[in-house]
Amino acid sequence: MIRSVDSEGLEKLRRAGRIASECREWARENIRPGVQVRHVLETVEEMIRERGGAPAFPTQSSRNCIAAHYCSAPEDPMTYEIGDCVKVDVGVHVDGYIGDTACSVDLSEDGTWQPLVDASANALAAAIATVGDGVAVRDVGAAIERTIVGAGFEPIRNLTGHGLERWKVHTSPQIPNYAEGGSGRLKEGMVIAIEPFASTGRGYIQERGRAEVFMMQRPPRKAKGLDREVLAVIQSWRGLPIARRYFRDLDPDVVEATLSKLTRQGSLMRFPPLVEEEGVMTTQCEHSLYLGPNGVEVLTA
Ligand code: CO
Repeated sequence: MIRSVDSEGLEKLRRAGRIASECREWARENIRPGVQVRHVLETVEEMIRERGGAPAFPTQSSRNCIAAHYCSAPEDPMTYEIGDCVKVDVGVHVDGYIGDTACSVDLSEDGTWQPLVDASANALAAAIATVGDGVAVRDVGAAIERTIVGAGFEPIRNLTGHGLERWKVHTSPQIPNYAEGGSGRLKEGMVIAIEPFASTGRGYIQERGRAEVFMMQRPPRKAKGLDREVLAVIQSWRGLPIARRYFRDLDPDVVEATLSKLTRQGSLMRFPPLVEEEGVMTTQCEHSLYLGPNGVEVLTA
């Protein structure tokens, strides 16, 4: 189902995309050994607000074998280290219209991970070159797979690009990072995010570790025992993903109790880090695209 964007919505999409792109570039320049991960995430989120947007999801920055969904805890002291291979994933919304973009940074001293960084970036460029009205999704996946395998790495097969709709970060179509995973065709009017991941390992991730990112997927069935302040914070995000960091001003025990009750009710989804095997390195590169009547527009260029 495509809900086409009106001209006002398109302007908001473009603004969200521009803000996301500026913040991604700031992060690319400022992710350095010794810098705190949390500093980067919080600064990006401040920059998003200064520019008139809001985070469409908590800014995330995953190191090394963690491919995605690493988000700092409220007091996370972790720093980037020499030798790291780092991803940063930025989501911005303007009135619910979302821009989603990511890049990777090689923090080795001798450029060890640069070919891996280039592989996901080149795969994204190859994918964008194939995109158009009526194009089979599997052809986009094939372009990604060909580029990454050609560079000597594996695409991560159980992570995919996705459609973007107002207030919804992950909608159909799924845009897989390999040919076999794709079905259906792209259509004019779609807004999509393409996000190739390249890996030095097998190309499969699994959930591992404590979740810092949450999303309300349906309203709670029972309000009993839920803290009103915590609930108000969650509901103010209108179904967009949020981080435990967003509750910093509230009593942590009360926050935890309400988060677990909501999870048990099936109201809240948790997103733990998505991790390849130990010792494997991963990169990601992502843009949001609008398939307009006059061609493809890269919103986060
Ligand atoms: Co995305």
